[in-house]
Amino acid sequence: MRQRNIKNLQERIDANSTHLVREPEQMKGRWHELFGNDRPVFLEIGSGKGKFISERAERLKEYNYIACEGQDNVCLRVLEKAEEADRDNLKVMMKYIHDIHEIFENGELEGMFLNFSDPWPKERHAKRRLTHRNNLKGFFDVMRPGGVIEFKTDNDDLFEFSIGEIEDQGYEILEFTRDLHEEGCTYLSKEFMTEYEERFMTLGKNINYVKFRKPQD
Ligand SMILES: C[S@@+](CC[C@H](N)C(=O)[O-])C[C@H]1O[C@@H](n2cnc3c(N)ncnc32)[C@H](O)[C@@H]1O
Repeated sequence: MRQRNIKNLQERIDANSTHLVREPEQMKGRWHELFGNDRPVFLEIGSGKGKFISERAERLKEYNYIACEGQDNVCLRVLEKAEEADRDNLKVMMKYIHDIHEIFENGELEGMFLNFSDPWPKERHAKRRLTHRNNLKGFFDVMRPGGVIEFKTDNDDLFEFSIGEIEDQGYEILEFTRDLHEEGCTYLSKEFMTEYEERFMTLGKNINYVKFRKPQD
């Protein structure tokens, strides 16, 4: 997501920082304390401007949410939305996640969202894809047993790759479609659209979607 430079970026971040977690590593094992309740916590990695997670936080208030976005000028938009709505079930992390274990304790999260993740099309960059098996393994470590990952993408090649990783690792697919927005599809996920999703839908592009979990022993 290429963004133009934003004037006075740091001042604007500081002015909208109520929901910003400046040192997320310090919250490892203590995220529930930060929210001040025991409600399940969902994480979105690569939130972009935060439309998806903000709307979920507004409609499904029985959960807590963490938006994680590595680009500061994009993340500012998530912070502004949270500030404007005075959202108490949404925290924001301005960070590229490389090792999820630095930020979350095992079993700490309820679930995760990966929406329109960067495709890293070159084979030599495959390990950078968020749905690479090494990343998925880490994500399941920090989720409670039975926790789910939901993944949406317009990128058919990335989706093929991701399904291959999911199947090779023996994860259990709960929901699957190559066309989330076809009329007959009733998955809840179609009700919360991202900025990229809206853009690709306008272009008539199909949206791939899968929801999966690690089987319980
Ligand atoms: C293609 S955009 C999609 C944004 C949004 N999810 C949407 O669907 O509109 C991917 C975003 O993920 C962010 N991103 C990629 N890898 C990340 C990581 N490891 N940690 C945090 N953010 C990441 C990028 O900065 C970019 O804004």
